[in-house]
Amino acid sequence: MRVAVIGSGYVGLVSAACFAEIGHDVISVDNDCAKIAALERGEVPIHERFLPELLSRHRGGRLRFSTSVKEAVSNSEAVFITVGTPQSETGEADLSFVDAVAREIASAVDGSIASAAHGSKVIIEKSTVPVSTCDSLRQTLLLSGAHHGSFSVASNPEFLREGTAVTDFLYPDRIVIGVDDELSSSVLRAIYQPLTSGSYYGEEGPIPSGSYAHKQAPMIVTNAKSAELIKHASNAFLAMKISFINAVASIAESVGADIGQVCAGVGSDSRIGPKFLNAGIGYGGSCFPKDMQAFHVVASQCNYDFGLLTEVMRINAEQRLRFLKKVKSALWTLRGKRLAVLGLAFKGDTDDVRESPAIAITQALLREGVQVQVYDPAAMPKAKEVLPSKDVVYAEDPYEAAANCDALLILTEWKEFSNLDLRRIRLLLKHPIVIDGRNLYARDRMTSAGLIYYSVGRAVGVPEPMSPIARHGDVGLQLPLPTVTRPAVAG
Ligand code: UDX
Repeated sequence: MRVAVIGSGYVGLVSAACFAEIGHDVISVDNDCAKIAALERGEVPIHERFLPELLSRHRGGRLRFSTSVKEAVSNSEAVFITVGTPQSETGEADLSFVDAVAREIASAVDGSIASAAHGSKVIIEKSTVPVSTCDSLRQTLLLSGAHHGSFSVASNPEFLREGTAVTDFLYPDRIVIGVDDELSSSVLRAIYQPLTSGSYYGEEGPIPSGSYAHKQAPMIVTNAKSAELIKHASNAFLAMKISFINAVASIAESVGADIGQVCAGVGSDSRIGPKFLNAGIGYGGSCFPKDMQAFHVVASQCNYDFGLLTEVMRINAEQRLRFLKKVKSALWTLRGKRLAVLGLAFKGDTDDVRESPAIAITQALLREGVQVQVYDPAAMPKAKEVLPSKDVVYAEDPYEAAANCDALLILTEWKEFSNLDLRRIRLLLKHPIVIDGRNLYARDRMTSAGLIYYSVGRAVGVPEPMSPIARHGDVGLQLPLPTVTRPAVAG
């Protein structure tokens, strides 16, 4: 089919590339001429695994780029809206970009190549939007001149995680389509048919599936409002799961339990599952924080006080403060200290620093007079836009970041941070202290390397015996040692 994707950000560009991958003719549109020119030159503006392969495979073939909504819509049967829906000051989703694009689409809807079988187009909201946006979108299209009957409106929310967006698209847990008429239903079913039939998975050279549980991608067909609500409810539940385990981690830490073992026990219940139970400094990113606020506003507009969401957000904000307290208790004083910070992205495998807990914590440390030496495999260019401080040194690798620091902080769950040469880290640090905001290590791996190990929801790991550090003239550890509450040994 002929598909237009309006908005070439994290969701739009991945969706356009994946639609081309499964056989459709796609025009990817953005109003940023520089971005479109870069895409046409073969540059890839976002850090997504397999995206470079897909763009080079289909650029100039089934995938074209344009800055003209009119051109794209006129040449398409289905039009996906994937523009940003950022948080406004009130917490409500800012739908002004959706509105602006809808007006442009309206002017192109008539007098163009409509779906041969039906004589009209399907306009599909893929951006995360509050429930009932589909009604507003329909209204805007009509008010902007699109003729009744020349278009349908549908919802097709995305469930893409940054860093795994391509595989999440091609190997989804489920595809959700929210359709209120037969045209929308038949067009969206046709678009996703290569996945729901499984034919894509049997083709030559598909993108690797990993451990995909399905032979055919499951599809959930519902109405537009329910599809919109599925998206907000899904993200809210995932964020709640994270805040829940972080709350339990705070209790575990105070009683001397081990949150890793608690999670293993809780997550083994098939109704709960082990995923999204990683305690740490909490969630960030361009989705959870804004979607939680937007969903809370939607609930208020429905006269429902969704206090649970408020609590999820409060716990998440508190996790950063608790971590900063942990840093202070480990170091006694902060002003003038030099700290190594590993990780700036809001999570591993992405270059995105939006709402990143790592950035927030680093900024708080800078305000306390700390000097930081930072390293992140992908996010440093974007971090420099929000961390301009003269007190930030950008290192080439984790070891350069650790050199001569009073402690090392792990703030983003990059895989490479879980396989560090710990003895080398210990020798590089001025004091053998690691404060892990993502629980990447077992405590005894740290203590056996001679490192005092602070983490989330677990007792402090202290090497024994705490001998003077054999480096720089055998300087013994001058810091106040943490009082170690050894977890009671069962039995
Ligand atoms: C999320 C949803 O997962 C995805 O379905 C939706 O489409 C977009 O929002 P994303 O924000 O890319 O995806 O990242 P995700 O992997 O969900 O992680 C979100 C945040 O939660 C990150 O900051 C991550 O570090 C944190 N997290 C995740 C935890 O703190 N603990 C966990 O167990 C899992």
